[in-house]
Amino acid sequence: MCGIIGISSNKPVSANIISSLKKLEYRGYDSAGIATLFEGEIKEVKSEGRVDTLEQNFDLKNLKGNIGIGHVRWATHGVPNSVNAHPHSSHNVSVVHNGIIENSTILKKYLATKGHIFKSQTDTEVIVYLITENLKTDELEEAITKTLKQLHGSFALGIVFKDIPDLIVGARRGSPLAVGYGPNENYLGSDSYALKSMTNKITYLDDGEFCIIKKDQVLFFNEDGKKINKKILELSSDEASYEKGDFKHFMAKEIEEQPNTIETGIKEYIDKTNSEINIYNFPWNINEINSITLIGCGTAYHSCLMAKYWFEELTQIDISIDIASEFRYRKNRFKKDNLYIFVSQSGETADTYAALDLCKKNNMKTCAVVNVIESSIARDANFVLPIHCGPEIGVASTKAFLGQILILYILALKLGSLRNEINQETFKDKIKDLQNLPSLIEKSLLIDNDIQAISSTFNEAKGSMFLGRGFSYPIALEGALKLKELSYVHAEGYPAGEMKHGPLALIEDGMPVVVLAPRDSYYKKTISNMQEVIARGAKVLLITNKSKDEIVSENIWETIEVENTNDDLLPFLLTIPLQKLAYYSALKKGYDIDKPRNLAKSVTVE
Ligand code: G6P
Repeated sequence: MCGIIGISSNKPVSANIISSLKKLEYRGYDSAGIATLFEGEIKEVKSEGRVDTLEQNFDLKNLKGNIGIGHVRWATHGVPNSVNAHPHSSHNVSVVHNGIIENSTILKKYLATKGHIFKSQTDTEVIVYLITENLKTDELEEAITKTLKQLHGSFALGIVFKDIPDLIVGARRGSPLAVGYGPNENYLGSDSYALKSMTNKITYLDDGEFCIIKKDQVLFFNEDGKKINKKILELSSDEASYEKGDFKHFMAKEIEEQPNTIETGIKEYIDKTNSEINIYNFPWNINEINSITLIGCGTAYHSCLMAKYWFEELTQIDISIDIASEFRYRKNRFKKDNLYIFVSQSGETADTYAALDLCKKNNMKTCAVVNVIESSIARDANFVLPIHCGPEIGVASTKAFLGQILILYILALKLGSLRNEINQETFKDKIKDLQNLPSLIEKSLLIDNDIQAISSTFNEAKGSMFLGRGFSYPIALEGALKLKELSYVHAEGYPAGEMKHGPLALIEDGMPVVVLAPRDSYYKKTISNMQEVIARGAKVLLITNKSKDEIVSENIWETIEVENTNDDLLPFLLTIPLQKLAYYSALKKGYDIDKPRNLAKSVTVE
């Protein structure tokens, strides 16, 4: 996945392309490049590394041209270097691309017979030469329609032409692409975020469509090259949420924002006066749903796993969970009484979107739990439950995780209550407890000094383990993922009871092991498992909740206590120290916290 920007204006565009590319770096940041059209020539600059490096390497202020395209890359075909960086150009055509061209090998062979010499290892270059070839015989719109039909796979494209110097072509299949409208200029971008400083008027391309963008006109076409009309949406402006403020990193800001994330979610979904849950316009009769499948990737998958425990506790509905990249290719048994819930912060993750698409093609009931409400997943699902947590910029997900699990918990409560599977008194008590959650999270955030001191041990060790049972197991997985993503140290999340079936062999003297053992119904069992790792030399960081009861175990290395609440809600509080542990470990190592190596925020390739 990569980020694309294009601007067609009546004034020079390079400065706005650069600032938009910086916003798009969450989609990829291993190389960057720009192409502009000036005095009948394509001017191309590109380099390995960040947009900052591109700025250092070239005098971009003097990159002239009123039309241009830009790109930040997350490598798929070919190592990250300046040759493989986008744009890729022929004498006449320059292309930026997000996605994967699956038939690039076959197309390369064909294009070589036409005399084209490939400079890079990318799949993108085939698009450049295909368009160049097709323009020899066809007018622009036919050439684009023909080229898109020749491409297999997924893509979002931005294209400029030396011989047609007043326009940019954008095309979408599988990867998101938006068009923006400004005064005497129009834009193309991978998302509205990249365009927000320039416009709040947006049109999203749908799969198969392409567009022609001039400074004073935008035309849209379907996959057969027929002109179509599309709606212009007006987005609300929330620029402030895109700034770091006084925080050193977006991740630090996003961790601290979590009381607010939960407060907002509660305001959106809970009617405090009547202790009721407001989920309006739920499109199905509740008795038509006998089972639910929750699907996601990465952190969103951990939210699904968390939800499974709650749904099983609060409802009688059969619950299964799936990793989107597995679900989309398995021989699934689609059932009419099954609800499919897609969990995604960005709403653009290619695997999750493909899983949704598969369900839609099989006429299944689909629901999206997303943060970005203009996203493809939100637009295509039958029903959307937004998590309302504002932009999440740090690549490692934090507040979106709490936002997702909050909405899934609320949904489980609501369905349990509608189906009379929890009694009304318990339901009302749980709603009351929920309302205290923001302040409990706020208090649980005050652990920086303790966590900072502990984090060095995790950095120095060969690896670490994160253990939990029941409600704490998904949180253990999420804690291990956070440490891997940010500190590049090996970390394994495991059900505490499963250690004896193999992983115990990994434990050696001084190995840090995080044990999540809140005083819930699993407490005693988890403490026994903790003793087993301590006996084999592990340095245990115990994370539990405050209680008047003593902890019945010796030789614990460190203990962190979060606030106390009902068992269902403890996972929210247990997550906080794990996020901070990963943050401080990476901070001590001097790593790039908001943009960890090899990763990207929005993964729009499979
Ligand atoms: C990427 C991000 C993860 C995220 C996952 C799923 O891998 O780095 O933080 O959990 O994608 O993203 P989604 O937007 O679908 O929640």
